[in-house]
Amino acid sequence: MSSEQWIEDILLTLRADGLERTLKPNIGLMQSPGSAGVLDFSSNDYLNLSRAPDVLAAMQGVLSAGSGASRLVSGTLPCHTALEHDLALFKGYAACLLFGAGYLANIGVVPVLVNRDDAVFSDRLVHASLIDGITLSRSRHFRFQHNSPDHLEQLLQKASAARRPRMKFLCVVESIYSMDGDAAPLADICELVERFDASLLVDEAHAIGVFGRGGAGLVDELALQHRVPCCTGTLSKALGSCGGFVVCSHLVKELIVNRSRPFIYNTALPPGVVQPAHAALRKMQQDESLGAELRRRAQGFREMLQLGGLNTMGSISQIVPVMTKDSDAAVRLSAHLAAQGIVAQAIRPPTVPKGTARLRFSVTLAHSLDDLHRAAAVVIAEAAKLGIGG
Ligand SMILES: Cc1ncc(COP(=O)(O)O)c(C=O)c1O
Repeated sequence: MSSEQWIEDILLTLRADGLERTLKPNIGLMQSPGSAGVLDFSSNDYLNLSRAPDVLAAMQGVLSAGSGASRLVSGTLPCHTALEHDLALFKGYAACLLFGAGYLANIGVVPVLVNRDDAVFSDRLVHASLIDGITLSRSRHFRFQHNSPDHLEQLLQKASAARRPRMKFLCVVESIYSMDGDAAPLADICELVERFDASLLVDEAHAIGVFGRGGAGLVDELALQHRVPCCTGTLSKALGSCGGFVVCSHLVKELIVNRSRPFIYNTALPPGVVQPAHAALRKMQQDESLGAELRRRAQGFREMLQLGGLNTMGSISQIVPVMTKDSDAAVRLSAHLAAQGIVAQAIRPPTVPKGTARLRFSVTLAHSLDDLHRAAAVVIAEAAKLGIGG
């Protein structure tokens, strides 16, 4: 076997199983704003802020392309502390810490909160970054059925019987799920967490900008800050830039600063991404209607698809899946839509459970009501041709 044969074998198997991944151009960003070209439903720039003039203007006056070092060496800049201050206030927490990405925040926070002597209970559908954080923590890992407090309770009960003194329990969920667009039953989860003396981490990546006061997230919308000790989030979706963060108490922040390897050993975010995220945050807070308007448009889109006989799963947010069940059907529907100028990503196992392949439509404020009508009509017609229904 040549030295690279094993690599080719792996890639051939992936290709044969229809699971090969390829790099995709951002067609939406390559066309000029407002042009009547492609309708892009693959972007997480939910509030369309990444190209807002004030957000782009925030990059002017940036004196350095990089930050030069990690935060603990000499990389901490006034723009980091200013954004951390405002994000903490925005989310209703005492403290905030930026990370290089939302991915890094999740793999950086979980292993600080729990270790090999502890147990984590995660929803079956949490993002890969949370799974990786749990794996890195070496905790015992129990996965409960998606959005099922009953199953979580069973697992907590069973684990409690064998709980050693000082053993920590951590529950890990998303507030809005990235592939289903549905919401976690956060109040029920808080109740269980309190009853079983556990802690809770909520990833608000897809709720920020869309739910809560000024887009502060679902934890804010449900006024649960005092019952949710830690939330993670990202600057790369509604905040239109790049980077991640955690909001928590001062004490937890101090521990993360001292213990979190993805925080300690990663160069600080450059000002050219921090300042635009801060400008986007200000815009979200100034115009409280953005999230509600996005939800209204997404609701209209979802109703049109449902009237056309399509299954939008449990979506209640700007993320609208169209279930095809079969992976091939998802890929073919995506290709048919692309030929008609509509970009929607086919999501297949292993990203989602077997038999739940789907197209994921991410509705953003870049989509007008006319765009959404046009897209829904095309999706319904193409799905009918392929025999895809509810
Ligand atoms: C739920 C969730 N958490 C975290 C992340 C990672 O965020 P980032 O892209 O900023 O690394 C994502 C990204 O898709 C996500 O969907």
